[in-house]
Amino acid sequence: MAHDAGIPLDAGEARRPLIVATRALPDSTRTALTAVGELRVEEKGRPLTPEELRSAVAGADALVTYLHDRIDSSILDAAGPQLRCVANVAAGYDNVDVDALAHRGVILSNTPGVLTEATADLALAMILALTRRIGEGERLIRAGRPWRWEPGFLLGSGLAGKTLGIIGMGGIGAATARRARAFGMQIRYTGRSPISPELAAELNTGNKLELDELLAGADVVSIHCPLTPATRHLLNRERLAGMRPSAYLINTSRGAVVDEAALVDALAAGSIAGAALDVYEHEPAVHPGLLELENVVLLPHLGSATIETRTAMADLAASNVVAVMSGSPAVTPVPLPGTSGRGSSGAPDSPTGLAR
Ligand code: GLV
Repeated sequence: MAHDAGIPLDAGEARRPLIVATRALPDSTRTALTAVGELRVEEKGRPLTPEELRSAVAGADALVTYLHDRIDSSILDAAGPQLRCVANVAAGYDNVDVDALAHRGVILSNTPGVLTEATADLALAMILALTRRIGEGERLIRAGRPWRWEPGFLLGSGLAGKTLGIIGMGGIGAATARRARAFGMQIRYTGRSPISPELAAELNTGNKLELDELLAGADVVSIHCPLTPATRHLLNRERLAGMRPSAYLINTSRGAVVDEAALVDALAAGSIAGAALDVYEHEPAVHPGLLELENVVLLPHLGSATIETRTAMADLAASNVVAVMSGSPAVTPVPLPGTSGRGSSGAPDSPTGLAR
């Protein structure tokens, strides 16, 4: 119903919820969100600064946020007490202060599941790129350096019969392991809890190992746990020293799970054979020591970067907002500390949160 200026809304007429998104959204996501509220998209072609974010969220009932948006009490205060949910367009939610949300009764959702296959594809691509020295070969050709076929030229390491150690056997870890099985790899894992007997049988893997045991026995170690206080620098100097000198490290989860300075030292000293990283401790900054090394593959956080996956992630975030704005539980809620998770269908986060 249209209103003349100055004429108050009927007492029974509800204000349309304000939904603020911090980045441009696919058409399907916009359509879903505009069905339940006013949508304001604050796209600047880059992440908003904290100041811009504070002013963008004022008055919002729902936020659609991305992994570069730091959502803490100052942002929640700037939004106001009417804020009901934050829909983070990512599986990880280490950018969100969950205690601050729980304290204010704001619901948090993430986008698990829909990025599993894309991220596992990339993890496998990184394993191949690293072990077969694809980046080195490509750089050599592009630099115009002379080369010819030689029996010992740029020899890599095969995968068949080698052991892949998965840290965090959640959906992405398992999807990566399935792909590695197709390359003839043996699977070992560590995580917050044992996997189901069915999955263990499918992957032909043994019991859950302790992290140190996994690191000591793996030829390739792939990280798939979320970043939590317990997993920050999980791969520290000592743990890296516990890997085989011939072993490779792959990280598609969050950069700060690895102590990046210690990794540079381990790579430079040859105490591990190589690393492939899609994520960085101080993203988007990359430790300068990594850029000096040939035995690393460096990607700019592309794990979920397919058109299909990014659309599905934004659409899932929208489904969460639509559900909450309609008075239903979120579709994929993140259980918050001290709450029942408000209709959560997921298991509560573990103290170590090793699976994702
Ligand atoms: C991407 O890194 C995600 O967590 O969704």
